[in-house]
Amino acid sequence: MTDHVEVDLSGAPQTMLATFYAKALDADLPNSILHDRWAKQIVDRIDYDWSRTTITAANSPAVTTRSAHFDRWTRQFLTANPHAVVLHLGCGLDSRFFRVGPGPDVLWYDIDYPEVAALREQLYPAADGYRVVSASVTDPGWLADIPRDRPVLMLGEGLTMYLTEADGVALLRRIVAHFPSGELQFDAFSRFGIRTQWSNAVVRRSGATLYWGINRPDEIVAAVPGVRLLAWQSPFETDSFGQVSWAFRVLGRAMSGVRATKYMAQYHRYAF
Ligand SMILES: C[S@@+](CC[C@H](N)C(=O)[O-])C[C@H]1O[C@@H](n2cnc3c(N)ncnc32)[C@H](O)[C@@H]1O
Repeated sequence: MTDHVEVDLSGAPQTMLATFYAKALDADLPNSILHDRWAKQIVDRIDYDWSRTTITAANSPAVTTRSAHFDRWTRQFLTANPHAVVLHLGCGLDSRFFRVGPGPDVLWYDIDYPEVAALREQLYPAADGYRVVSASVTDPGWLADIPRDRPVLMLGEGLTMYLTEADGVALLRRIVAHFPSGELQFDAFSRFGIRTQWSNAVVRRSGATLYWGINRPDEIVAAVPGVRLLAWQSPFETDSFGQVSWAFRVLGRAMSGVRATKYMAQYHRYAF
């Protein structure tokens, strides 16, 4: 581990600085949603002008309610599958492995582009059952080294929108083909969310482009043979959204009143 690191990222890798900073700010709030003490400690070790992320304590729940939701689904999966493989794709600097504490028999892989993977290795300690894979998730090669005889949890938080539809579908199909059983858990933007990406300051400032919009879960069921839907939700319908401040709840209620904004972001969960 390194004490202090300088960070200079652009494009999709830069966006994880915003989500990570949201978790660090949240950890200091009296009504913290995620309680991510790792994010808090690590942000202090990174030389970066965090104001560039446009994240504040007030807008941090847009990130932390999502992460808390996927922590919950992850725990549910691991309770039923204590010998699983976890593929945490597009993990950024997220501390989920340390937050969730997956248990001694889980093999956990945090996977992101080389510049992000290198940062993780400088900032987090090594741990049993835990590996960092330095690769684009769309590269078919990295999966070959992952044991294929266990159930898998594929978790992609804040990832699918950065992939093209062809790359995203190919990735999901490869995972389903590699493992005997498992779950696919990810969030997605609708095609309306992709069309209006100019309104997303984090993405715009990073220079990244969003590609893959998903409107309904039947698109995934049709595109990835063998999967069945377990859950499909708007963020505003989840337990974790119940923890936000009244001002944020008012915004959520307004967005829930219009189908286009209610499902602009969605949480997807499938089994195979
Ligand atoms: C918005 S951040 C989300 C980070 C983290 N999952 C979270 O929720 O805090 C998007 C992450 O996806 C990663 N990413 C995007 N496309 C990728 C790809 N093709 N291969 C690997 N990582 C990718 C980026 O590098 C970045 O870390």
